[in-house]
Amino acid sequence: MIDNKKVLFSGMQATGNLTLGNYLGALKNWVKLSDEYECFYSVVDLHSITVRQDPAEFRQKAKNLLALYIAAGLDPEKNCIYYQSHVSGHAELSWILSCFTYMGELNRMTQFKDKSAKHADNINAGLFTYPVLMAADILLYQTDVVPVGIDQLQHLELTRDIAQRFNSVYGDVFTIPEPFIGKTGAKIMSLQDPSKKMSKSDENPNASIYLTDDRDTIIRKFKRAVTDSMAQVKHNEEQPGVSNLIEIYSACTGKSFEDVEKEFDGKGYGDFKLAVGETVADILAPLQSRHADILKDKAYLDGIVKNNAEKAQYFSNKTLRKVQKKVGFNEKIR
Ligand code: TYM
Repeated sequence: MIDNKKVLFSGMQATGNLTLGNYLGALKNWVKLSDEYECFYSVVDLHSITVRQDPAEFRQKAKNLLALYIAAGLDPEKNCIYYQSHVSGHAELSWILSCFTYMGELNRMTQFKDKSAKHADNINAGLFTYPVLMAADILLYQTDVVPVGIDQLQHLELTRDIAQRFNSVYGDVFTIPEPFIGKTGAKIMSLQDPSKKMSKSDENPNASIYLTDDRDTIIRKFKRAVTDSMAQVKHNEEQPGVSNLIEIYSACTGKSFEDVEKEFDGKGYGDFKLAVGETVADILAPLQSRHADILKDKAYLDGIVKNNAEKAQYFSNKTLRKVQKKVGFNEKIR
C-alpha cells in the first residue's frame, strides 16, 4: 500500500517493434487501471540485453517506449514511468532472489525454451535467469497487481512461488502479487497464422500490426489476414482466424463477441476485415500523433525520467533494505 492505494507494477521491453498485441494485452489495461492504483510502469531495459542490441538504436527504442506510455494516456505526474536500469534495486534484489529460485523451475519456463531456440548462438545466463529479474521488478514495490497478457502468466506464477518461499523463511516480507488479465485482448494471435501469438519478432511483417503502422498498411494487413471458408463471422474454435479478428474488434470497441457476431451477420469477410482495420487505424492514429509530439519535447521527457527514477528508487529502497536486513547483511553506516 502507498497512501492507502494498492500497488500496480508492469513493464514492457523496448526491443523490436511494438504490436497491437502489446497495446490490447497490456498498455490499454494499464491506462484503465491507473486511477485506481499507485502505479509503476517500467521500460525494462535490463531485460532486453539478454538478446544483443545495437546501443544507439536500443537507446532510441527505449526512449520511444517511454514516450509511448505517456502517449497512450498514462499521466507521468501520477504514474511512475521510468527506465529499469536507473533503479539499482532491480539488479540487487534479483541476485538475492536467484538464491531462492531452483534451476528446475527456470528450466520449465516456456519463454526461455522459445528464446533459446530462436537465439541458439547466444543462450546466455541472463536469458535463463530472466524470470528472477522479473520477480524482482514486481516484488521490489510490494506489488498487489500485475496487468499482463496471457504469455506472462507462467513468470507471474513463479514470482508468487519465489515470494512465498522467501516469506516462509523470513516472515511477511513480500506482498504476494496477483495477475490482471483483460477480458478481451489478452492473447492476440498472428494475422497470418492464428495458432501463433502476434509477436514483435515475427519475420513476416503481415503477421503483426505494429503501433507505428499507417492507416493504409493497417487496412491492407487486415485485408490479407488468414480466415477460412466457412463464410460466417463467429467466435469459435473451428475459426481461429475469424475469432482473432473478433477478439481484436471487441477489445477495441468494448462490444461483446455476441454483438460483433450480430453486427456482421450475413455480411462477407471483406466488410468485416475492413471494419476491423478501420477501427484499429482510428485508435492508433491519435496515439501516433501524440507520440510524435511528446518525443519532440526533450526537456519535458528528461524531467519525467529524472523525477520518476528518484521516486522509484525511494520506494524500491524500502523493500531492498528490509530484505537485506532479513537475510543478515550488515547495515550500511550512513
Ligand atoms: P513483453 O515486452 O514481451 O510484452 C509486454 C506486454 O504485452 C503483452 N503481450 C501481449 N498481449 C496480448 N497478445 C499478444 N500477442 C501479446 N504480446 C505481448 C505481454 O503479456 C506483456 O504484458 N517479461 C515481460 C516484461 C516484464 C514484465 C516485468 C511484465 C519484465 N518485468 C514485470 C510485468 C511485470 C515481457 O517481455 O513483456
